[in-house]
Amino acid sequence: MINRQELIKKYLDFFKSKNHKEIPNARLIPENDPTVLFTTAGMHPLVPYLLGQPHPLGRRLCNVQKCVRTGDIEEVGDETHHTFFEMMGNWSLGDYFKKESINYSFEFLTNILKIPKENISVTCFAGDKNASKDNESAEMWKGLGIKKIKFLPKEDNWWGPAGKSGPCGPDTEIFSNNVEIWNNVFMQYNKTAEGKYIPLKQKNVDTGMGVERTLALLNNLKDNYMTDCFKPIIEKIEKSSGKKYGKNKEETKAMRIIADHIKASVFIIADGVAPSNKEQGYILRRLIRRAVRYGRDLEMTNFLMKVAEPIFVIYSDYENLQKNKKKILEELEREEVKFLETLEKGMNIFVKLTKDKKEINCKDAFLLYQSYGFPVEMIEEECLKRKIKFSKDKFENECRIHQETSRTASRGKFKSGLADNSEKTTRLHTASHLLLAALRIVLKDKNIIQKGSNITPQRLRLDFNFPRKMTDEEIKKTEEMVNSEISKSCRVIREEMSPNEARKKGAGGIFNEKYGDIVSVYTIEDFSKEICAGPHVKNTCEIGHFKIEKEESSSSGVRRIKAVVD
Ligand code: ALA
Repeated sequence: MINRQELIKKYLDFFKSKNHKEIPNARLIPENDPTVLFTTAGMHPLVPYLLGQPHPLGRRLCNVQKCVRTGDIEEVGDETHHTFFEMMGNWSLGDYFKKESINYSFEFLTNILKIPKENISVTCFAGDKNASKDNESAEMWKGLGIKKIKFLPKEDNWWGPAGKSGPCGPDTEIFSNNVEIWNNVFMQYNKTAEGKYIPLKQKNVDTGMGVERTLALLNNLKDNYMTDCFKPIIEKIEKSSGKKYGKNKEETKAMRIIADHIKASVFIIADGVAPSNKEQGYILRRLIRRAVRYGRDLEMTNFLMKVAEPIFVIYSDYENLQKNKKKILEELEREEVKFLETLEKGMNIFVKLTKDKKEINCKDAFLLYQSYGFPVEMIEEECLKRKIKFSKDKFENECRIHQETSRTASRGKFKSGLADNSEKTTRLHTASHLLLAALRIVLKDKNIIQKGSNITPQRLRLDFNFPRKMTDEEIKKTEEMVNSEISKSCRVIREEMSPNEARKKGAGGIFNEKYGDIVSVYTIEDFSKEICAGPHVKNTCEIGHFKIEKEESSSSGVRRIKAVVD
């Protein structure tokens, strides 16, 4: 048996022995990236560095990264799908390329994990009009004695970009006993928003190895839910429901869904998200509510807090989980209670809408679903119980009509591209540093810090701690101060130092686990000094005219400013 912590340690130790530096496990909520809701791969926080910006820790990096992928929510329930998972990864930022990457993977799998090379098979990119066939990787695998090599097209052997645009490239995927365990991506292109593949300045390697499935493989388990990443949660569900895992297909599926969704929810809450009706909060709400609904199938109610307990033991190495345990459990319970109330309300409306009817109208069903949050599965179940006809097709059609409308409405918002490092966003990045510094002066509060930032090519959005609405005069003064710094043509200087040194020098930032051993500090004369990953302009004169569009409340004690430059 090998457990989760042992596997991760072996991986990191191995890559450290090959001169890789461990980078922190980033938040699940990507910063400054409007196109994705969650960190979906280890490369995500590295996008600026894959595109060419120097990383403070060098050109060889490794880590284990928590990830959430929501595209597969409906698939969860079998032996291998999860929304939350951990990915071990190693990166070369313009350092080594195919040869070393393949050699390292082979050495780790065969020497450290002792997987017999006869059990290993690989796939390589077959080539297309944008990039050539990857004979090089295939030759290297052959040279290492791997016999099962397949060439597959782009659908299979190309990875990225994670959003609409960004770094990507052909990959070689490594399988053991037909389970894909590792993906080595040779990131040498930047896919533009227009769909063009532009060769990158540097050739990178981005790899990802799933912790859960590798553990299952090494322990001869077919079912990821029987690894130590899940087993204690499943056992807790068995105990709470009095049902046995593996006995009945539907019940086993429900147990997996509950275990996965509660785990993902715990991690999402730990990273500062609360259930809501939009973006990350909406996904969180959906995960929690699905867990509650499947719990009802197992005749469990008010169970989230109990079932979440083992997660804090399995992931004892996550400080943010331990620190926020009370808050996380309370949030889960609050949403559970709220949902149970919603279900009750929905049931009342359902009964009214279907009174003396043989069929539920699709518009009524949509109303129940959309406005009352009543799950469609429950509409189906209740109709079946009461012998009321329900046309799922008509209902789905109604949903599609609605989606079309809202998609058109939100199109503007997501058109910007992944971790957009365009000239416009770069100018806005620097403008947001000037804004933060100006706020401290105008509002006479040097403890103001950035609570959140989101930058698209259209605007910057900065959240900061301040207890009240700003006056019109304060807004005007802030704007003027930023514009005055812009007109002074100040140089923007980047330095690397330890977080401690940065703090001593008075740099702003959020001093928590997010930082590695070395951070970048951006200084604008004696006006602004912030820890930041960038990118920034070289001189403030590049920014243009700065204008605050809106000042509003973000949450209790936190204000939000939206501003533009032109
Ligand atoms: N980024 C690559 C993946 O997620 C390694 O598979």
